[in-house]
Amino acid sequence: MNIFDALRQSHETQRTLGARLLAADDGRGDRHRAFLNLKRELAAHETAEERYFYVPLWEHDETVDPSRHAIAEHHEMDEMVESLEEMQEGSPQWSELVHKLVHKIQHHLDEEENRFFQAAGRVLTEDQKLALAVQYREEFDRLLDKESQEAA
Ligand SMILES: [Fe+2]
Ligand SMILES: [Fe+2]
Repeated sequence: MNIFDALRQSHETQRTLGARLLAADDGRGDRHRAFLNLKRELAAHETAEERYFYVPLWEHDETVDPSRHAIAEHHEMDEMVESLEEMQEGSPQWSELVHKLVHKIQHHLDEEENRFFQAAGRVLTEDQKLALAVQYREEFDRLLDKESQEAA
């Protein structure tokens, strides 16, 4: 497994959780749980991806702009999550912003997979691609664990 496989695996989880959130109703707290799951997954992914994908990419001219763009989008998504937490869950404004967030996530993942991965593939060495996958997965697991414990 290389870094691209590792990131794609997380992306698939996010796509699934996003769809689940859009489909969730409030029966037995399903909607709240779906929101928390997506929030934690997103936060752990963004941080681990910045550390073990975008930071190494900063070192190459060709991938500075993609890194900057992606990290800016991470901030936008974080702000949307924060706004959602301040709103009345299930209100029309909340639902509207949830749709925007899920679409933003989809756009972000597609752009990473279709554009940034290709650029990164040209600048990272094969050894780096393998080593970053291990580091990404360790960090992602650690962060997700921490998020879940803090919430418990
Ligand atoms: Fe990202
Ligand atoms: Fe990503």
